[in-house]
Amino acid sequence: MNRKKSPTKLVNLIAEKLKAARKEKKMTQEQVANAIGIHIVTYGNYELASYSPSLKILEKLAFLFNKPESWFFAKDPIIQNNQHPSINNMNFNSNLIGKKILLGVTGSISIYKSLYLASQLKQRGALVKVIMSESSQKFITSLSFEYITQEKVITSLFDISESNNHIYNGNWADIIVVAPATVHTIARIANGIADDPLVTTILGSTKPKLIFPAMESNMWENDATQSNVQTLKSRGFRIIGPAEGYLASGNIAMGRMLEPVDIISYISTILGEKGDLRGKTFVITAGPTREPIDPIRYISNNSSGKMGFALAHVARDRGAKTILVTGPTQMTAPIEIDSIQTNTAHEMYETLKEVCINADVLIMAAAVSDWTPTKMKKEKIKKFGKMDFTLKTKPTLDILSNINYDNLFKVGFAAETKNLEQHAKQKLIDKNLDVIVANNVTEKGAGFSIDTNKVTIIDNKGNTLKLGILSKYEVANQIINKITSMMS
Ligand code: CTP
Repeated sequence: MNRKKSPTKLVNLIAEKLKAARKEKKMTQEQVANAIGIHIVTYGNYELASYSPSLKILEKLAFLFNKPESWFFAKDPIIQNNQHPSINNMNFNSNLIGKKILLGVTGSISIYKSLYLASQLKQRGALVKVIMSESSQKFITSLSFEYITQEKVITSLFDISESNNHIYNGNWADIIVVAPATVHTIARIANGIADDPLVTTILGSTKPKLIFPAMESNMWENDATQSNVQTLKSRGFRIIGPAEGYLASGNIAMGRMLEPVDIISYISTILGEKGDLRGKTFVITAGPTREPIDPIRYISNNSSGKMGFALAHVARDRGAKTILVTGPTQMTAPIEIDSIQTNTAHEMYETLKEVCINADVLIMAAAVSDWTPTKMKKEKIKKFGKMDFTLKTKPTLDILSNINYDNLFKVGFAAETKNLEQHAKQKLIDKNLDVIVANNVTEKGAGFSIDTNKVTIIDNKGNTLKLGILSKYEVANQIINKITSMMS
């Protein structure tokens, strides 16, 4: 696509196409996206399903098309498949697209991580403005942040241009993040000492504020700091960290600023708190189960857990209370999500029976083993020269069929290698589901271990939505869109 189009032209073009689509009422969202010449990743059914997006959304889209960071929206199969070499993890937290983040940085050596943080936020589609304290400029110059954010960096309280104005910026931001926050900055905010653009902006803003401290452990544990932290918490500031680990002094102690990837997760969660899933509880399963044969061997499968984890991230980012029940997986437990690790199909069932009592939605993305050994041997089975080996198994309980609570919306997955829709529809009936998500695991861009998926979403009325190759995060968004449209 031509990325040189002006925002106004693009807004008009998008508006025209959407209007035509709305009139016709025949085009699917994918067709609209194709007509516009884009691959809609985030705006999914959220705003575009009705084909009547607000001007604000169109502006956001237009903005993104004109920014180099938005090239992952381009209609380019390599990028659609998230396989561009410069993208090391396309599982973007897409609720950051178009979000305005005011990033305050202060004088700590951990500021080196803030450059990466600013860049990662930008790559996820956020608008980032940086305010630097005076001491932070001794560590890094404003030029680095200016290059990364493509925005003027604020360093002076006395530049009264609009973009520099503390009241304007305090209103402009969707969230204010201070990372790193030094002991001095925390003290100034807690005591209302408005002597620089950062503290002045914070004091003049009603937007959510997130503080990520970084300092030596003695400074963190000092009564003065702890009392300032308590003051800020009581005023609604979210103070996260510091973490224990290697400090610049060489000590291993409490005081490290959180890693950028975790900071981003907190920003996503807090921005999503007022999302469309607020007040709902989602239980999501992920990964394989493991059925022990003896203390060393087991029956399992290739599931990585990525699809279930993506669903959990999206549910959280849209404001749901999210409970993730996993089988054994290598993936790190996500921030702000209750994670429960199980092992066998039986353990997963027992856990789900409990956690689903008060849940609104159960999504079974786990690849549950269908068979389990009739009896687990207590000692290692020795081969003793045997040439063949027969394992006696029995079927596991079908979890989805057996978790039934009034008003629990049930979503299953159907992993198939042939006759996709036919098998999926049968499972939907057999397991008493509201929705089934079918995928042919042998297809390119679908299946285990990769960051993309290609699925067909089928509901209990027989409606079928076939999606192209999307990131698992976006597939999760589409599945949740389907759920919310059916629940409302
Ligand atoms: N499932 C379950 N309990 C099982 C097996 C599967 O709850 N013991 C769930 C899966 O989590 C998935 C859905 O049922 O959401 C379909 O799983 P799948 O493996 O595709 O199908 P199966 O029912 O196991 O049937 P088959 O293996 O014959 O395709």
